[in-house]
Amino acid sequence: MKVLAINGSPMMDKGNTALILTPFLKGMKEAGAQVELVYPGNLKINPCQGEFHCWFNTPGKCFQQDDMQTLLPKFGEADIWVLATPLFLDGMTGPMKNLLDRLIPLLEPCLELRDGHSRHPLRDGIKQGKVVLVSNCGLLEPDNFDSLVEHIKAVCKNVNRDFSGALLRPNGPILRVFMDMGMPPEDILEAARQAGYELVKSGSIPPACLDVIGREFIPLEMFIENANQHIRQTLDKIADSGR
Ligand SMILES: Cc1cc2nc3c(=O)[nH]c(=O)nc-3n(C[C@H](O)[C@H](O)[C@H](O)COP(=O)(O)O)c2cc1C
Repeated sequence: MKVLAINGSPMMDKGNTALILTPFLKGMKEAGAQVELVYPGNLKINPCQGEFHCWFNTPGKCFQQDDMQTLLPKFGEADIWVLATPLFLDGMTGPMKNLLDRLIPLLEPCLELRDGHSRHPLRDGIKQGKVVLVSNCGLLEPDNFDSLVEHIKAVCKNVNRDFSGALLRPNGPILRVFMDMGMPPEDILEAARQAGYELVKSGSIPPACLDVIGREFIPLEMFIENANQHIRQTLDKIADSGR
């Protein structure tokens, strides 16, 4: 089974998204999957120019000579796409969106009726697999992810893939705090690993794993107090260093 994972965080492997993504991919590998992890931050992927050359002039191929030339076939072959992005203004990061826009060559221009909706079919040879979302955000409430999850579900319908679930970690930076204190949140890391293992082995992610990944660390009032304290200390430190 082929897995293509994209980590759209500008912090790449040093970021909070990677804290959940890394054990998730480890579990997938342990279950026998062939996993490739790609960082758009390391690649040259231009925005789509909206010319529709990939539909009419050079079917299935974008005219832009950048790293999408080698990445696009991998999307077409992968059984599972893992789309990992921190929440940026209630959505995915810019590099992740640029990359997803560039998937349009995988689709035929002519429309079909699918589940009562007009859709573009996948081109011949393009796999109809699964998609998993991995995300974390700064704020505490799980509903911060609602718009991102809805967007990814809509993308799945658009590109004819099954949405297999989302590993969502609100208040993601708190994981980093505990890691730096030498107290890794073992239950969360293990739940992410198990989620990856089970998705490959049994075809679905146990809901209990998702609950643990998103579990509460601290109550809302304490979160706001701690966050403000940290922000004020950081501002003071920077102001002091400039004096
Ligand atoms: C430009 C920008 C926009 C952000 N927007 C949100 C947001 O809308 N909601 C939220 O809860 N966190 C938001 N965050 C916080 C990030 O989601 C959070 O810092 C996350 O842990 C970053 O993950 P990373 O280390 O993998 O990049 C934003 C951060 C940045 C830099």
